[in-house]
Amino acid sequence: MQFDQTLLTRLREARHVVVFTGAGVSAESGIATFRDALSGLWSRFDPMQLATPEAFEDDPELVWGWYEARRMQVLGTSPNPGHSAIAELAKRVPRLTLVTQNVDDLHERAGSVDVLHLHGSLHQPRCSLCAEPFRMSAEPPTEPAEGRRLAPPRCEHCGAKVRPGVVWFGESLPFDTLEAAFSAAADCDLLLSVGTSGVVYPAAQVPEIALSSGATVVHINPQPQALGGGNEWLLTGAAGKVLPLLLQAAFDE
Ligand code: OAD
Repeated sequence: MQFDQTLLTRLREARHVVVFTGAGVSAESGIATFRDALSGLWSRFDPMQLATPEAFEDDPELVWGWYEARRMQVLGTSPNPGHSAIAELAKRVPRLTLVTQNVDDLHERAGSVDVLHLHGSLHQPRCSLCAEPFRMSAEPPTEPAEGRRLAPPRCEHCGAKVRPGVVWFGESLPFDTLEAAFSAAADCDLLLSVGTSGVVYPAAQVPEIALSSGATVVHINPQPQALGGGNEWLLTGAAGKVLPLLLQAAFDE
């Protein structure tokens, strides 16, 4: 794969890089994206029945069972070369902020630290009433069963139902995390937007803020992306292929 020399220089000389990731970065680990036509979760499931506070209120067993199946699936997978390249990039540039929309823990398992999880985490459930974090027992991964109903555990503190630690439709994003992501985007010289459709706000503002603050924005995606101007680039391909090659071309050649 050939990279533009201007782009490689910008990456090599960047003072602060933001990496903004979506479901596509975990696709090569075997985790379904949301909006890919046939395999995307939202083409097979109705988000209004699974990913809203009202859905949890109406049918907690259905919602908890679905998220537990997703958590089990994630526990049974491993980071891919895209996750690893991002962890490696953090060692090659003076400052890197990793902002993810993903609720899996594959960035952390690849070695990334201080990951800003804009949409929460499958691995950090909490009480639906008092917000006390709930510690999941470390059971071994089982076969995912997406239709399996499961009663949510009860909070050890107040006895209310425990809920998944993810942000649902109609809920606010964690304020401090969003602030940290926006301020990193405003400060960076280069932002890599990896594997996201960029249609869910306010998360999708992150690359927009970087671009309007004068940073170079590079999309890594197998699908065509609409580009705004000279400071926006597209590297077409899968994250697990493109990212390792990009690092090699920028830092090892
Ligand atoms: P989407 O499913 O909307 O988009 C996934 C993107 O990844 C698409 O642009 C694909 O073309 C791209 N893609 C697929 N395979 C890839 C690969 N191997 N390498 C690189 N890119 C690849 O997922 P998100 O943009 O993450 O919200 O969705 C944003 C939010 O919508 C999610 O965080 C979730 C969902 O509703 C919440 O859970 C709150």
